[in-house]
Amino acid sequence: MLARIIGTGSSLPEKAVANQELETLVDTTDEWIKSRTGIEKRHIAVTETTTSMAVEAAKHAMKNAGVKAEELDLIIVGTVSGDMCFPSTACQIQSALGAKNATAFDINAACAGFLFGLSIVDAYIKSGRIKTALVVGAETLSKMMDWKDRSTCVLFGDGAGAAIVKSSDEGILALVQGSDGVRGSALTCHNRAVNNPYVDNGFKTDYTKMNGQEVYKFAVKTVPAAIMQAMDKAGVSADQVKYFLLHQANIRIIEAVAKKLNQPAEKFPTNLQECGNISAGSVPILLDFMNQEGKLERGDLIVLAGFGAGLTWGAAVLTW
Ligand code: ACO
Repeated sequence: MLARIIGTGSSLPEKAVANQELETLVDTTDEWIKSRTGIEKRHIAVTETTTSMAVEAAKHAMKNAGVKAEELDLIIVGTVSGDMCFPSTACQIQSALGAKNATAFDINAACAGFLFGLSIVDAYIKSGRIKTALVVGAETLSKMMDWKDRSTCVLFGDGAGAAIVKSSDEGILALVQGSDGVRGSALTCHNRAVNNPYVDNGFKTDYTKMNGQEVYKFAVKTVPAAIMQAMDKAGVSADQVKYFLLHQANIRIIEAVAKKLNQPAEKFPTNLQECGNISAGSVPILLDFMNQEGKLERGDLIVLAGFGAGLTWGAAVLTW
């Protein structure tokens, strides 16, 4: 049996923040942000939370798939910005949906979180352990940004995307995953430090720090290689693929990947212009946008690829 995505959903915060608005917060310009990243605006949570957006995205995906909560065997959430350390975001979603038959847990693979979740579900379905799963990528990165640091706060946005995956004759043909912890310092955000009656290290809340050029170099080298590996495993050529849906970090990264794969830019749809980088939420939100716009037809070959902190990366080739 293969694992097939049969429904998608997404949720974005109501408040959209244009680049121009950020000019009033930090020393930046709309022109700088647009030309270096392609981003024009992003959605920022005010009343929403990681869980509330994840639940909304999950409900849309279930409706789109025609799947009821009791049918879910597994719920996996890729997130680095859950509302609580515990219970997990996945368990909170399970409760909100009434998915009483599901096993639920979170994974931290940063911007590759959705691809890692999909990979776990794929293995569970292929082994025959489960039939139906919900995979979510949900982030409220705005709470992890230093809003005085222009090199990071302009890049990210909040939101959630979800997919229902079911065992089927068609579906995911090949998956590739990888990690390189040695280069992890390129993109970091510290959690609480050791702090108890025996030690007080004066730790203050940390924010996201990134060596942009290191991440850029990693992405333009690793992502095309992972995609090629996945296509090889699946026995398909790039020309046969209808769309490559990449993590929406930066338009220049996406253009560089398209060039390395020798494929036209039109095959690489984007929504980073209006969403910014939503880490684990990026790929499933873009997938849902494409699905809602009716751009995906049964039988289309699609490539999904994510990459991010860890460092981590993942790519999947699937039949829609
Ligand atoms: N506005 C204006 N100037 C800025 C801003 C800003 N928002 N941010 C940085 N600058 C300045 C810098 O201070 C620097 O100034 P200096 O030359 O006087 O020192 C100058 O712009 C150039 O800075 P660089 O960091 O060299 O800019 P670069 O061209 O590398 O672009 C960027 C930065 C967009 C972050 C790029 O490196 C990049 O896209 N990297 C990939 C990052 C990424 O994709 N991260 C996410 C993937 S992983 C994940 O999603 C979690």
